[in-house]
Amino acid sequence: MYSIAIDGPAGAGKSTIAKTIAQRLEFIYVDTGAMYRAMALYFIRNGINEKDEKEVNAACEKIHVEIAYEDGMQQVLLNGENVTGLIRTEEVGNMASKTSAYPKVRATLLDLQRDLAKKADILMDGRDIGTHVLPNADLKIYLTASSKVRAKRRYDELIAKGEEADLDQIEQDIIIRDKQDMEREIAPLKRADDAVLVDSSDMTIEEVVSCVVKEFEKVK
Ligand code: DC
Repeated sequence: MYSIAIDGPAGAGKSTIAKTIAQRLEFIYVDTGAMYRAMALYFIRNGINEKDEKEVNAACEKIHVEIAYEDGMQQVLLNGENVTGLIRTEEVGNMASKTSAYPKVRATLLDLQRDLAKKADILMDGRDIGTHVLPNADLKIYLTASSKVRAKRRYDELIAKGEEADLDQIEQDIIIRDKQDMEREIAPLKRADDAVLVDSSDMTIEEVVSCVVKEFEKVK
């Protein structure tokens, strides 16, 4: 069985790229950010103070996250409820970024993530997949892009949806999120020594996809 790890900062295009590659290689796609987001949704719904580690730890005992697949699309279940459609907001993303710094939050998800990789060929994306979750992955990719480019992509997405957006504000938020994810003590976002660095700032989706597929052909 093969495993591919794709890590990188928010907005680098990991999930779009990962989904396309998983389809092409007929791998199962695992989006680990969605799991942290499901936990974050629980914290928000239950008024948990994200600054109080004890409160967060106690809440972790009451959280059960599961992954299921419907027509090949990953679904995230929070205590049995499918919350896939509820976790893509900025509020949930920010809460996930803050609370994922706590050891207990990470430990709650680690076994689930590792178990998924034992069952099938998988492509898993996140922040610490190559460094912690799957240190023996067959291929590791560190996918990044400049904060300007990432902000512009996010801005274009929001405008296309008819929402209001402020490009500078989006870039500021991205910089804050990068800092939080890179500077936490446990499993921070960083390129694994053996990860292939892909900077997608000046690349199309198809260029990134074929670059990763080529890297996989080399190791398989
Ligand atoms: O990829 P995303 O934006 O859905 O992830 C949301 C947050 O979850 C991210 O800011 C940090 C955290 N996360 C993590 O700590 N480790 C992972 N493997 C995936 C996400």
